[in-house]
Amino acid sequence: MSLKDMLDSLPIPIVQAPMAGSSPPAMTRAVCEAGGLGFLALAPTPPDEIEAVVAAFQEQTSAPFGVNLQMAPDADPDPAEVAAALERLRPWYEAVGLEPPTPPNRYSFDFKAQLAALTRAAPPVASFTFGVLTRGEVEALKDAGTYVVGTATTVAEARAWAEAGADGIFAQGLEAGGHRGTFLKPVQESLVGTLALVATVRAAVDLPVIAAGGIMDGRGVAAVLALGASAAGMGSAFLLSEESLMGPVWRKAVAEASDDPTALTRAFTGRHARGVENRFMREMKAVEDEVPAYPVQYRLSQPLRAAAEKAGDPGAMPLWAGQGIRLARTGSAGDLVRQWWNEAREAAAELSARTRGGPGGAAGIETDPEAGC
Ligand SMILES: Cc1cc2nc3c(=O)[nH]c(=O)nc-3n(C[C@H](O)[C@H](O)[C@H](O)COP(=O)(O)O)c2cc1C
Repeated sequence: MSLKDMLDSLPIPIVQAPMAGSSPPAMTRAVCEAGGLGFLALAPTPPDEIEAVVAAFQEQTSAPFGVNLQMAPDADPDPAEVAAALERLRPWYEAVGLEPPTPPNRYSFDFKAQLAALTRAAPPVASFTFGVLTRGEVEALKDAGTYVVGTATTVAEARAWAEAGADGIFAQGLEAGGHRGTFLKPVQESLVGTLALVATVRAAVDLPVIAAGGIMDGRGVAAVLALGASAAGMGSAFLLSEESLMGPVWRKAVAEASDDPTALTRAFTGRHARGVENRFMREMKAVEDEVPAYPVQYRLSQPLRAAAEKAGDPGAMPLWAGQGIRLARTGSAGDLVRQWWNEAREAAAELSARTRGGPGGAAGIETDPEAGC
């Protein structure tokens, strides 16, 4: 069976997009049991725990599921750069009553060790963001029985994953919440909306596409299926679900956000990500290009983010969310998936009636081929 066959055979072609720190295994399981495809977000999991986490999940569900890792580079920053970054953060730390932290020995888990553990764990599907695997790494996962999905934010990135031998593409439009998966060109040159990205990736590579970015309900699901996606990937739409780990400060900030609440920033982590714009994002804007690259800034700002959340201050913690966040609903993840699928079917039926003709239907309109516009 190919990944396309597997996605086509899902009872509900909705993918719960991985959200490290926000989508726990309970959400993944609820989505899988409802008939969708859930993803475990294991970027924050140490390599020596990955096999046990995947095995424990596999024991609890017989449905297919995915596991996601972030391809964080090994960081060995210049101490002067780290000192400057900490000085830049000093006023923020002082405002929450803390001294800037001592730089850590390691800035992230060893991605190669995480990948090796994931390959041994052999989940049904594995997806990756922030880079592209080598052909050998993809081959090893496939030999273990795992379908490989690469995150792409441009057609060139989708081609790179196709050349590496991936089974499918997770096409992440600019509307998406959280970190951009961009890895070939600067982010400002890689901001393609979901509609254009899905259609152009489908035309460029012969691989199934999971479309993501701004899909908040069944109408969005129907739209990307009509564009040729094999499934709709939804992240922000799950953020207010019962299973979400989104804390009360973040929930309140989203509830009180303006109509057009999100922006991209690299100030929190050193990698561009989309969230509800807050004080930190606004005040760091002038210097955000100078902060050290991910994962260095991510680690250096970690105690600040935690302290702000503890103090109930939404101004100094990331509020990751996509452009559609105002449409997020509450409810259990399983119920939401079923609701969205019902809505998608209704939207498709309405569209089908409209395109077949009848009053106001396109096929019912008399057109004169000679007439100009
Ligand atoms: C809070 C949050 C955390 C995220 N964490 C990850 C992650 O760990 N790995 C990943 O590949 N993508 C991550 N993403 C991106 C999502 O997988 C997905 O691309 C995005 O949510 C889709 O757009 P939407 O938010 O408009 O639905 C995250 C997104 C959010 C909102």
